[in-house]
Amino acid sequence: MRWAALLPLPLFAALAGCGGIQTVGGREGRDAALINDLFTVFCIVTGLFFVAIMAFLFASYWRRRGFRGDRMPEEDEALASPTHDRRLKLGLFLWVGAVTGGLMALAIASFFTDRSLAQPNQAGRPVVSIELVGNQWWWDAKYHFHDPSKDFRTANELHIPLGAATMIYLKSTDVIHSFWVPNLAGKQDLIPGHVNDIVLVPTKAGHYRGQCAEYCGLQHAHMALDIVVDTPADYARWLARQQQPAQMPADPQARAGFDYFMNKQCSACHSVAGTPANGQVAPNLTHIASRATLAAGTLPNTNGSLHAWIADPQGVKPGNNMPYIGLNADELHAVVAYLETLK
Ligand code: CUA
Repeated sequence: MRWAALLPLPLFAALAGCGGIQTVGGREGRDAALINDLFTVFCIVTGLFFVAIMAFLFASYWRRRGFRGDRMPEEDEALASPTHDRRLKLGLFLWVGAVTGGLMALAIASFFTDRSLAQPNQAGRPVVSIELVGNQWWWDAKYHFHDPSKDFRTANELHIPLGAATMIYLKSTDVIHSFWVPNLAGKQDLIPGHVNDIVLVPTKAGHYRGQCAEYCGLQHAHMALDIVVDTPADYARWLARQQQPAQMPADPQARAGFDYFMNKQCSACHSVAGTPANGQVAPNLTHIASRATLAAGTLPNTNGSLHAWIADPQGVKPGNNMPYIGLNADELHAVVAYLETLK
């Protein structure tokens, strides 16, 4: 029976995946904690029933082992006795009671979890309002304020404040996507022609990873979203920076890159606030150098990745809408130098 010691291995392997910046085991948001608590209740109740049913199965097998034919006369006598009858009835009553109790526990836990999830304003009125548009295969984010002159646009990375409610309005321009940051909350779909919403109330600062959770085409797996939960002071600093337009670079190479960016195809699709680049069909690049990843989580945002991405976007992420630009080496270095000034 030494092999039995290996039985829990798959369980340990599964639990090893329950950690990190993208995990259904995360409890760093109000909704995620509620859903996790409900999951725990379901695991305990259904686990107890599984053990009970297996115990009955093995007990009956154990009692009847070696049984080949008709019962012995003394067994028939025992089964027909009034004592056995009473014990059978009592057992059935207990079992029906246990099943009813278990189902009621699940129903009550689900009801209260649903009720808590449906109350978006426990953390007060949402202090941040974001319009998040799903595209094949990237995220377009617009931060909205009471004073529209403070509105700004970013892509593939959201910052939200710790302990406050952030309202995210979800839209799509092409196919159905699904917004899912498991450490913070459950899923919500982005549907063309319809506005959905989700409220995030993060309870722990940190960097989390979201992932499109509805198959949306070739690069569905490369449609990730970085979410940074900032302390209120860090969030205010990030906000102030994002509301600034891009600065004109002083460095000659970056300046040359600026000229290429404006005169090649780049500015037809991408926008950079404070410059003539005003394309609306590709990610806003005003502060791209401040983001952690490129191409919606496909590459880390490094000098080497920027070169690779601009030189061969279809090699890095086949099927995406960024075309081959055909820059020579000097032009490529210059454009990368310019983008790296966009902090
Ligand atoms: Cu978008 Cu999958």
